[in-house]
Amino acid sequence: MTNSKTLKTHSMKALAFVFIFSVSLFGQLYAAGDNVKGKSLFKTNCARCHYATDQKMIGPGLAGVRNRWPDESKLIAWIKNSAEFLKTGDKYANDLYKEYGGQQMPAFTNLSDQDIQDILAYIDNPPAEEKKDNAATATAPGADAKGDKGGMSSTQITYLLIGLAFVLLILSSALRSVSRAMENLQREKEGLGKLPESKPFDFFNNLWGWIVTHKKISFTIAFVILCWLLLKGFWALNNIGVYGGFKDKNGNVTGYMPDQPIAFSHKLHVGQNKIECTYCHSTAEKSKHANIPSSNVCMNCHKAVEVGPQYGKKEISKIYAAIGWNPIKKEYFQDYQNMNTEEVKKVFAEWLSDTKGAFEEVEKQIQKPVQWVQIHNLPDHAFFSHQQHVVVGKVECATCHGKLEEMEKVYQYSPLTMGWCINCHRQTEVQYADNGYYERLHNYYKEHYGEYEMRKGQAFTVEKIGGLECSKCHY
Ligand code: HEC
Ligand code: HEC
Ligand code: HEC
Ligand code: HEC
Ligand code: HEC
Ligand code: HEC
Repeated sequence: MTNSKTLKTHSMKALAFVFIFSVSLFGQLYAAGDNVKGKSLFKTNCARCHYATDQKMIGPGLAGVRNRWPDESKLIAWIKNSAEFLKTGDKYANDLYKEYGGQQMPAFTNLSDQDIQDILAYIDNPPAEEKKDNAATATAPGADAKGDKGGMSSTQITYLLIGLAFVLLILSSALRSVSRAMENLQREKEGLGKLPESKPFDFFNNLWGWIVTHKKISFTIAFVILCWLLLKGFWALNNIGVYGGFKDKNGNVTGYMPDQPIAFSHKLHVGQNKIECTYCHSTAEKSKHANIPSSNVCMNCHKAVEVGPQYGKKEISKIYAAIGWNPIKKEYFQDYQNMNTEEVKKVFAEWLSDTKGAFEEVEKQIQKPVQWVQIHNLPDHAFFSHQQHVVVGKVECATCHGKLEEMEKVYQYSPLTMGWCINCHRQTEVQYADNGYYERLHNYYKEHYGEYEMRKGQAFTVEKIGGLECSKCHY
């Protein structure tokens, strides 16, 4: 009997080991860097000069860069400030610098070591692209933004836990059969005869038996799984009715930033090229909604601008594929929607033959309209008019949408809650001076109600003109 006792202690130790090992594996995956954060850091800081593949752009392709820099502290020092690092006389770095014609990489002293770890984690292991191929995402975008939150996606965690459970099952059944064999030997010695053959269901009985005899470990495992499920459920509940993004300390959601079908950058168009918002969002001053520009508007410029500074031909060609522009002949395809798709593909394959990996992405856009993922979306019961705010209220776009001229990718800047609307209505003064809308209104009053004097110089807020009345904002 002592034999099977020691066996049990051994099995307990083995299981504890597996458990601790898995937990530390978990920890390592987190510590090694967060590839999702890394992706956005990479896009904002590095992507204008580097691909995360092995393709060269202004700087070398960064795939496998860790292998080229065996000493990680040097790699981090290089990224933070390559000019300083060159002064250490490091041969590899100086050779590389010469190879790239003495081009200096900007210093990134604003990035922490952890940020750089995240970027490297992204380069090693880019997160899976989010789905963006159906219109449903435009109305219910909640699902695809979740991956932006944690280090590992919940699917990865699920697989890890399933894997762990599997290892435990196999281990326990193996230990069980060894223990049976030992016990049979013992019984033979004592002349008791063999234990009955094990039936298929014995596995579960055995498992249950194991759980009963190993209360502490079982309890710990159950506890961990339970905590995880609770956490997951909590997240799911938290996201009902909102669109991913992040919560501030008051629980308001901002920051929802989905991937778009074309890497359109406001920073480039508004910040660098100084294009007016209303050139593209032309209805913001005329109606309730600000429109998203159609591809025709893009073509005003992109017939001529064929190559972008960051993505080369790839992203701009998606506009051509959507609208039916033949970039080789510089003319629209005839009867594009009914054309043979294979013929169109040939043209784009030729056009993109010098840009690695571009055709595969542009292909998806052939003969399909660009489906931008909607970011801002009030519930149906709320009424909001751009015209009222932009033209009459003279509120700047940036007050509600943030500095688009600095955004590589648009995100939801304001919480769009009722509290947000009302707060502003309490604080903001009505701009009635030199305001056509109010002049017309006052002239109307004069005509219909006789003498009417506008009390000049007196400030009043939107609240005073009824901006807190339920019916103004609710249908
Ligand atoms: C303005 C262009 C530019 C930007 C932005 C830039 N780099 Fe570089 N990078 C270069 C160039 C050019 C080189 C080649 C060495 C040289 O000339 O200094 C280089 C080299 C490197 C190397 C060494 C590559 C190798 O093969 O060993 C690493 C690592 C690197 N960059 C990382 C980054 C990271 C991370 C970022 C973003 C935080 C970044 N770079 C941003 C231009 C840039
Ligand atoms: C060259 C055309 C162009 C210009 C100029 C432009 N935008 Fe946009 N804007 C777009 C496109 C295309 C989208 C949809 C893709 C995206 O979200 O990046 C968009 C999206 C947006 C969105 C998010 C819409 C949503 O889905 O909720 C806001 C807000 C916005 N733009 C505001 C502005 C403001 C403010 C300016 C001026 C500072 C501006 N835009 C200038 C083309 C433009
Ligand atoms: C008023 C002119 C104008 C309009 C309209 C315009 N663009 Fe651009 N676009 C530019 C310029 C200029 C560049 C930058 C070229 C450069 O810097 O090399 C550019 C670059 C780009 C790039 C390349 C990005 C990169 O870094 O590789 C993309 C993608 C793009 N535009 C998409 C669009 C889309 C989509 C629309 C329509 C919603 C649009 N543009 C409308 C002028 C315009
Ligand atoms: C007072 C705040 C406010 C101002 C100012 C404002 N917006 Fe908006 N914007 C919103 C809200 C709220 C939504 C969401 C509307 C909805 O879902 O019906 C929105 C949505 C949008 C959208 C998505 C399309 C739509 O209408 O749903 C675009 C594009 C946009 N705004 C562009 C602009 C531009 C360009 C300006 C400046 C000319 C501007 N906005 C000024 C609050 C504002
Ligand atoms: C940045 C400040 C600001 C925010 C945020 C804001 N508003 Fe306003 N709103 C104004 C101003 C200023 C006016 C006054 C325009 C005028 O003179 O008629 C106004 C007027 C209105 C009116 C017309 C009121 C009336 O009595 O005629 C409605 C309706 C309205 N807003 C709805 C909304 C909704 C819905 C939201 C939130 C989604 C919102 N507003 C967010 C500043 C804001
Ligand atoms: C300035 C505009 C504005 C005024 C005034 C306003 N609301 Fe709202 N309300 C909104 C917006 C925008 C939303 C949607 C935002 C959200 O779901 O967080 C909303 C959401 C709601 C909701 C749904 C809450 C939820 O969690 O989905 C209710 C109920 C509501 N409002 C009731 C009222 C009542 C009652 C009044 C009058 C006392 C009122 N509202 C006045 C803008 C307004």
